[in-house]
Amino acid sequence: MPRDNKTPLIQKIAKKANVTFKTLKTSSNDDKNVFADKQSGLISLVTEVRAADLKIVPRKPAASSAAPGRENPPVTYMHICETDVFSMGVFLLNAGASIPLHDHPGMNGMLKVLYGKVSVRCYDKLQDGGAAPSQFEPPLAQSQVGSLRRSVLRSVAEYSDNSGPCLLTPVQDNLHQIDAVDGPAAFLDILAPPYDPDDGRDCHYYKVLQPAAQGEGTDGKSNEQQQVEEKEKDEEVKWLLEIPQPEDFWCVGEPYPGPTVSV
Ligand SMILES: [Fe+2]
Repeated sequence: MPRDNKTPLIQKIAKKANVTFKTLKTSSNDDKNVFADKQSGLISLVTEVRAADLKIVPRKPAASSAAPGRENPPVTYMHICETDVFSMGVFLLNAGASIPLHDHPGMNGMLKVLYGKVSVRCYDKLQDGGAAPSQFEPPLAQSQVGSLRRSVLRSVAEYSDNSGPCLLTPVQDNLHQIDAVDGPAAFLDILAPPYDPDDGRDCHYYKVLQPAAQGEGTDGKSNEQQQVEEKEKDEEVKWLLEIPQPEDFWCVGEPYPGPTVSV
């Protein structure tokens, strides 16, 4: 088959993302291998992409480290395309900027750094609610207890433009916090299906709670309770509190300068 060198890489990625995630949408459990095959093709294409493919000029560290304000949002977003199967765009982070811990309910995702470096902390929500510690630091109001989510810290990793994509699924690595490391950074973001609050896929923000120090004593806990707490420590179990969007984080749209994409 002749190589297709005329089609922009981002167009190939869009087409491949559409067929890949369409498979997932319509397939039964028996078709998991079909999805896996298509997904590995998509990962190969996404691994190749760099800022220049999207005509994005990396931000200068000095300009992007200015104090955040109306003229200098910490994060901007370039929308590339969206279908009912997936959405694709680019997040650009100033030096020191962070996209706070958030989720992608029922969604798959791929994050590929285009320039700079990011640190990604991924969490899984645990289905088993478990018993929350009796106290957190600072203490919770009774009304906040219903917003607690038991989770596990799944991974912490750094990604640069030479790294492959960071993946998330509806059940694994679905929550993440993304921090720019050592200067400004940008990444391509593919989500499937797209966020849609009318279909139960709204974005929620979280903060990680610290259990209040209990001292070295057993405080009258049963052996069983102590064993559970030790196991949770080993597994990096974290308690997350759903919070409103943090005030120091906001994201403003900016034009996408790259090749036109049609799906
Ligand atoms: Fe995300």
